[in-house]
Order: sequence, then C-alpha cells, then structure tokens
Amino acid sequence: RAQPTADLRGRSVLGSFFHAPDPDAAPLLASALIEIDLDGRIVSVTGTADPGYAARVESASRSGSLTRVDGFVLPGFVDLHVHAPQYPQLGQALDIPLQDWLQRYTFPLEARYADLAFARHAYGALVDDLLAGGTTTAVYFGTIHGPATRLLAELCVARRQRALVGKVAMDHPDLCPISYRDSDADAGLHGTRSLIEEIRTLPGNDGLVQPVVTPRFVPACTDRLLQGLGDIARAGHCHVQTHCSESDWAHRHVLDRFGRSDAEVLDGFGLLTRRTVLAHANFLSEADMDRVALRGSGVAHCPLSNAYFAGAVFPLRAAMQRGVRAGLGTDISGGPSASMFDTVRMAVAASRMLETGVDPKVSPEMRGRPGSRIDIRAAFHLATAGGADVLALPVGRFEPGCLFDAMLIDPAAPGGTIRLWGGESEDDLLATLLYTASRPNISSVWTAGGAAR
Ligand code: GUN
Ligand code: FE
Repeated sequence: RAQPTADLRGRSVLGSFFHAPDPDAAPLLASALIEIDLDGRIVSVTGTADPGYAARVESASRSGSLTRVDGFVLPGFVDLHVHAPQYPQLGQALDIPLQDWLQRYTFPLEARYADLAFARHAYGALVDDLLAGGTTTAVYFGTIHGPATRLLAELCVARRQRALVGKVAMDHPDLCPISYRDSDADAGLHGTRSLIEEIRTLPGNDGLVQPVVTPRFVPACTDRLLQGLGDIARAGHCHVQTHCSESDWAHRHVLDRFGRSDAEVLDGFGLLTRRTVLAHANFLSEADMDRVALRGSGVAHCPLSNAYFAGAVFPLRAAMQRGVRAGLGTDISGGPSASMFDTVRMAVAASRMLETGVDPKVSPEMRGRPGSRIDIRAAFHLATAGGADVLALPVGRFEPGCLFDAMLIDPAAPGGTIRLWGGESEDDLLATLLYTASRPNISSVWTAGGAAR
C-alpha cells in the first residue's frame, strides 16, 4: 500500500485512475497498472482487458517494484494563473473595482516583497497549501523584485512543485506608483533576463521550474518594455503570461491608448506565442479569438475572480470552438479560493449562468448565450490536460510519455467530505469526487513520480 510519501519512480502502480484527455471523455482506468521510469515518466498504462495484464502485474509483484494504491488517482491540477504575493490578502477586499483594488491593496502588498523574510513566510505557505490542494503545476506571477521571485522558484524546487515563475514587469508611470514599479523599461528588461538565467541554473532544478516572461498587463507597461519582453521571450524560448481584456476598464484602457484590442497589441509586440498564457480574456472579440488560436496561445479562465473583478463571464465554449486552448486559474487573490476544486466547480456554475442568463424578468429566448455550458468532466479536463496543453507540458494525463504528476483521493479519509454509497456509475463517481472532495481527502501528491511536499 502506498504511504503518503511513497516515491513511485522506477515502480509500477496498481490502482484506479481517472483522467480527462478530452473535454468530453473522462474514463476510469480501473485496476490499471502504470509503469513509471526513474525520471518519473510513464512508460506504460495497462488495463485489465489489455493483453499481458496479468503477467505484468505478476512480474512487478515478483520483482518487488509493485505499489498498490487504494482510492482514486487523478492527474495533479494545473493552475494557470496565480499571483503568489497576493496570498496574504486571499478573501479580502473583493468589493471594490479592479483599478482601485490594485492601487489601494495589491501594489502596497506586493511592494512588501522587497523583504525576503516576509517573502519566505508567504511563499512557503502558498506552495505548501497549493500542493496539499492537489495543484502540481502552478503558473506564478511574482513581484517586481528579483530576489523574492527567485526565492519562490527555489521553494518550488525544494518542495517539488512544477512551476512557471515570472518576475512582474511594470514600468508605466501613469499607472504604477513610484513606490512599486520598475524604475524604467531597461530595469524591467534586465530584471527579467537575470531571473530567467537564475531559474534555469538553480541547483537541483531539472526543468521542474521554468521562467516566464511576465508583463503585468498592457496598461502597466510602456511600449519599450512590451517590445523588449517580446524579444526576450522569442530569443530565450520562454513562456509568456499577462492579463488580457479582463474588465471593461482594462479592455477600454488599451483601446484608448492604441486604438486596437489587447490581443492585437500583444501580438504586435511578439507576446502571443504558442507558450503564452492570457489571463481572463473575457472581452476577446471573435477576431481576437481567431488571432489567439492562430498563434497557439491559451487562456487562463478564472471564473471565481471574474465574478468579483471582471463583471463578466469568459465565453469559454465559444473560444474553444474557435480553436483557442484553455485551462483554469484561481487568480489568487482576485479569486478568494486557492483550491482548484473550487475553481472547477465555479467553471461549471459560471457556464450554466452564462447559458441561461440570470434575470427571470427577461424572456427565456433573450436572456442567455445558448451552447455555453460545460459539464464537470469538461471542467476536469481544463484543470488538468487542458492546462497542460496551454503550457505545452507533458503532464495532465495518464499516458505513456507523460510525467506522473498526480494526487491520490481517499474517499474514506478521516475528516474528509466524500460519501460513496456503492453502485455509482463511472460518471457519477467522478462527479462525486470532484464536487465533494476537500483537503483531507487528498492523501498523496506526486510530481514526476516523486512525493511532493
Ligand atoms: N490586472 C493587472 N494586475 C492584476 C492583478 O494583480 N489581478 C487581476 N485580477 N488583474 C490584474
Ligand atoms: Fe490576475
């Protein structure tokens, strides 16, 4: 039986696995055998009906490399959008407009990460809490500070969380206070370049943690900074993350400055790439969606945060139908939960409200956007394989060639909130796990086959 800290590298795992390689397919691999190599990569997945199943189980058992797990193994979650420094204000200040929230709460909090002791305290707690919640990959905005952001990357390496970590670049004097901004474009570019190099050469980092070019959002950056960051991303083959068309205010700000949409402007600066994550993207036009799809960029759909700050629901189905890649993000602390379970649940609920509308006084034909709903399996896909596809990382599914990033759900864990009654169908079983699990039910977490935390 697997201990919470069992290292699965070089072992064969016998258990029941759910994954969602497609938005409408979330199969249960019951009593399957997954063979993992010494690097944590899945070598084979053998189901009970596959030829050679019994012989493989027998052979792994005889050689002492078999680990049996009780419960259900899910791919670890990919959280595409986390503001690491905002964790200390999780659940706070959710009632004011985005632009005021940034100036009054968020920039002053982020400025405190000049203090490395404060950064260590907050970032250590965040990485631990996300891993405990089943988030094996996180895409982090840090702050403008090199040392604190490097420390975040070090903590991810030490605790075995797969992560993309970015130094926030923001230099526009009209938007950013003098107390919290890069002193000019060159400072932002130099800090970005240095951190990329530092993360890639961190001791013990075998690719688990990667750098990401991080213009905060167009309004916070001068043209020179945006252009330079696009150049760095291309030359360094780096991921990119930014906010795109999040709220009426942010969307309008870019239109007024450039006479073009956020997506067009980012594209013009070379910031829409196959490895770009656009947070929110609520106000993308159809032409924007086509552009994003053409570049191969993806959207971090942040349904909880959008309810509080964007005043909008991302038209997820429409974007996916136009070929836009998508995954989910908590947007800590724009969203008040660090849990990807909560985000999965909210993604379904938001899509249902978008589909049917919410004002009963409007006629049924007028009030919603037909065809918008997603079900829990699609949300599970977005939180795992979908997010991995946005990042072009080989995780999020149980298939040969993928890294074994996973969590074990123990429905019977003391203090847990899952109740199984027996006789559930596969679909009902998965839905029950996703809707009712809480942290005590997550009994183990692995990245690349090694125990995380
Ligand atoms: N736009 C620019 N910065 C931020 C941020 O920190 N959070 C959110 N939700 N939107 C932003
Ligand atoms: Fe955000």
